[in-house]
Amino acid sequence: MNNKELVIKAAKDVREHSYAIFSKFKVGAALITKNKKIYKGTNIESASYGLSMCAERNCIFNAYSNGVRKNDIVALAIVGKTKGSFAPCGACLQIMSELLNEDTPIYLVNLDRPKIIKEYTIKKLLPLQIGTKDIQK
Ligand code: THU
Repeated sequence: MNNKELVIKAAKDVREHSYAIFSKFKVGAALITKNKKIYKGTNIESASYGLSMCAERNCIFNAYSNGVRKNDIVALAIVGKTKGSFAPCGACLQIMSELLNEDTPIYLVNLDRPKIIKEYTIKKLLPLQIGTKDIQK
């Protein structure tokens, strides 16, 4: 399997571990590094709803927690299942804009239409964002 296939399969697999007990909206995310290591995350929900965390951020934070940095990341895949359009939330876009390179492929897969794999970059999904350069004095 190539990187794209590997990272999408990993995101589909980890989605099964989603802890979406309130929304029932399961999301899986996975990223692959240059040395072919895969890091995964799912959404985890809390009874204090606002404390819930999205799959993408859990995935990226997991990778960073293990020493991965943006230049190591080759691709990110996000898998959900929805009748409407599927896209990461704004908070995740902000984190992606800081922790991924701007041209890293982001694959969006909707299990309702699994053949359609949309490919984006964070530059395309969030053309304007605040970054570290903007908050330095
Ligand atoms: N969610 C994600 O994990 N990623 C997304 O891209 C969209 C939303 C989660 C948050 C919450 O647990 C559930 O999906 C419903 O919004």
